[in-house]
Amino acid sequence: MIEKYAGKNNSKYKIFITNKIIPSIELNKYINKTSKVLIITDSGIPKKYIKALKVKIKNARVYLHTIPQGEASKSFKIFQEIIKKLIRLNFSRTDIIIAFGGGVVGDISGFAASSFLRGIDYIQIPTTLLSQVDSSVGGKTAINIPEGKNLVGAFYNPRAVFISTRFLKTLSEEEYKSGLGEVIKYSLIDNEKLRTLLQSNTTKILNRDNKILLKIIEESIKTKSKIVTKDEKESGIRAILNFGHTFGHAIEAHTNYKKISHGAAITLGMIIASKISLYEGLIKDHQLDNIINLIDSLGLDTNYSKYKFSELKKYIFNDKKVADGKLNLILINQKFKAFKTDQFDQNNIRKAFK
Ligand SMILES: NC(=O)c1ccc[n+]([C@@H]2O[C@H](COP(=O)([O-])OP(=O)(O)OC[C@H]3O[C@@H](n4cnc5c(N)ncnc54)[C@H](O)[C@@H]3O)[C@@H](O)[C@H]2O)c1
Repeated sequence: MIEKYAGKNNSKYKIFITNKIIPSIELNKYINKTSKVLIITDSGIPKKYIKALKVKIKNARVYLHTIPQGEASKSFKIFQEIIKKLIRLNFSRTDIIIAFGGGVVGDISGFAASSFLRGIDYIQIPTTLLSQVDSSVGGKTAINIPEGKNLVGAFYNPRAVFISTRFLKTLSEEEYKSGLGEVIKYSLIDNEKLRTLLQSNTTKILNRDNKILLKIIEESIKTKSKIVTKDEKESGIRAILNFGHTFGHAIEAHTNYKKISHGAAITLGMIIASKISLYEGLIKDHQLDNIINLIDSLGLDTNYSKYKFSELKKYIFNDKKVADGKLNLILINQKFKAFKTDQFDQNNIRKAFK
């Protein structure tokens, strides 16, 4: 088992990563003997995992709350249902929530934990690749409102994160690939070791080999935790985690968040941002080719020709990375280090779509 840390001072937390089952002893260290535990999960998580988790928790009284699977559950309605359940169960500040599922469960459970009684503890047990390498670490919690995604939320770190590669066996191909998109992102913004691992183990990764998954998750978490610990509230360096997101979000918004997964959209966004980096003279032709080959070898789509600049423009320039009327982009340099900049030729965005 691998142990990493994220967060600073009082809100520092441990991240356990294993290719075996979740370690009981460590998990129970976070749960008071006399307290209550509410496991929040969704209807798509295999029941056998929930059963196995329940029996792991010793002494405490364990309750379950299942929300419908899917992004629509990150809503005020479901948030309110969770709060009402916590009240009905008479939860106090010594009790704890376990978020057991993907990013949807993690985001809404974390937000409920951050606001109930002005904050109770929660643990993340992420079960999708995306939530294991991304959303469970960094303390961002949120729900969606009709005006936009993640517009209501809080920065609120979990007490601990428990990651097991075993959960990934039952994940759909589309969800698995979506998570791989984020793994590739870390390899392009600041992690050469991860890039080499990805390039030399494509078959194993596509076969979801436990040992290689452990390594690539470890490397992804290393990069994510380093960045979010330096910049907990996204006032600086954390922005580089959005590599590919300006264009990816535009593709998602254009397709109404229905026809393409988040990871697939972000992957296309990374290719667009890499092309702009090439036109800006920041990377070389062969480096762009390497990026596209890597993405392709991991079974993700690299062709974005069906998305037109004229259609995506309004979303690109509406992005929250526009400060004082200037668009900020995350670009990469020859050393595969990402950085935020508003110093680029805007014609290169249009050119990247040709
Ligand atoms: N907080 C953050 O920093 C952060 C970062 C990135 C994304 N997010 C959020 O994460 C969400 C997306 O998360 P996601 O990609 O994990 O999607 P998700 O939570 O919707 O899970 C995807 C699907 O997989 C199913 N599932 C989960 N684990 C499974 C397993 N082990 N086996 C079989 N099926 C399983 C779920 O039931 C669901 O239907 C979005 O709401 C996004 O905004 C948050």
